[in-house]
Amino acid sequence: MSTDSAPATKVDLEILPTQHPLGDAERAQRMQSPGFGRVFTEHMVAISYSADRGGWLRGQLKPYAPITLDPAAMVLHYGQAIFEGFKAYRQPDGRIKTFRPEANAHRFNSSARRLAMPEMPVGLFVGCVDALIRQDRGWVPAAVGESLYIRPLMFATEAALGVRSSRDYDFLVIASPAGAYFPQGVKPVTVWISEDFVRAAPGGTGAAKFAGNYAASLLAQMNAAAEGCAQVVWLDAVHRRYVEEMGGMNIFFVYQEGGRTVMVTPELTGTLLPGITRDSIIQLARDFGYAAEERKVTFDEWRSAVRDGRMTEAFACGTAAVITPIGAVKSREGTFAIHNNETGPVAARFREALLNIQHGLAPDTHGWMHDVL
Ligand code: PLP
Ligand code: COI
Repeated sequence: MSTDSAPATKVDLEILPTQHPLGDAERAQRMQSPGFGRVFTEHMVAISYSADRGGWLRGQLKPYAPITLDPAAMVLHYGQAIFEGFKAYRQPDGRIKTFRPEANAHRFNSSARRLAMPEMPVGLFVGCVDALIRQDRGWVPAAVGESLYIRPLMFATEAALGVRSSRDYDFLVIASPAGAYFPQGVKPVTVWISEDFVRAAPGGTGAAKFAGNYAASLLAQMNAAAEGCAQVVWLDAVHRRYVEEMGGMNIFFVYQEGGRTVMVTPELTGTLLPGITRDSIIQLARDFGYAAEERKVTFDEWRSAVRDGRMTEAFACGTAAVITPIGAVKSREGTFAIHNNETGPVAARFREALLNIQHGLAPDTHGWMHDVL
């Protein structure tokens, strides 16, 4: 059993609850069809870091509110900003659990190292999130497929225009009740293969959850939308042949080979984000008796394997949308459909298995769930 989850951690935060808590009816109204990332809970955690004052200072759990920044704050000029995303789920007995938060804490620190920002102790990261969830526990939805999305972030706050790593940072945790990420629900998406832009180059920041990666992706995403596609698929920067990831999600290809299901996902070359859902699917695939391979896959292989019938499904995976089937692939050369543009059984099986573990409806044999309360 790979236990990457430890019991709830208590951290030393100054607790300043809101003086104007929402009533149950008002909260229920705001939580109705929340979509993704539009509604926020009543509190947030804020911790400052100061190199001159010895590192992480005592933080606060306080009402959710706008923040103030000096116009010279380094994040506004040179962009040191990283974030994480994971979810809290209500369990059948009413308790609340998060999915693999330590894995997000480790990835946060690896993003911090790449952006020359300070790391945060894993216990402090997880403890702050637990404290926020405890405070705002009424905001964790109960329905399967709904959850409380947790967004930790860190950015450079030192007021200085010299180009160097900031000496001051703020770390915040905010939370947002979440339903479906894509407005159309779990329908297959059509994706656009981006041949004009790349997301990440060797030696760049592709493996970090760095705000600039997302800023740089938006124009390609607009091009994809103009082509009638929901998402962009990125190819590698050097050969422009290998499939890397889709928008903000990793990709899996499902092969049927000699009666065996083989799950293939692009290997972590340093230019793609090491998704925690991706890692979980690799582990679940082995539980299901499927083979799981991490290797390079060219766009040509994708197209020909679908044409020959060897590849029966493709799907994307990530925290926000869990699993999203890829129904059709569009590029300058044309469009091809996968699994008749319908959700396939393998994508559906992984989606259900993940959701069941997350909502406490199936045993957590990998020790992924972290008890908050
Ligand atoms: N790839 C990118 C670029 C992402 O932003 C995300 C989302 O966080 C993922 C992949 C999937 O990662 P995870 O499964 O940890 O959510
Ligand atoms: C994901 O969780 O899959 C994401 O990509 C998050 C996104 C909103 C940045």
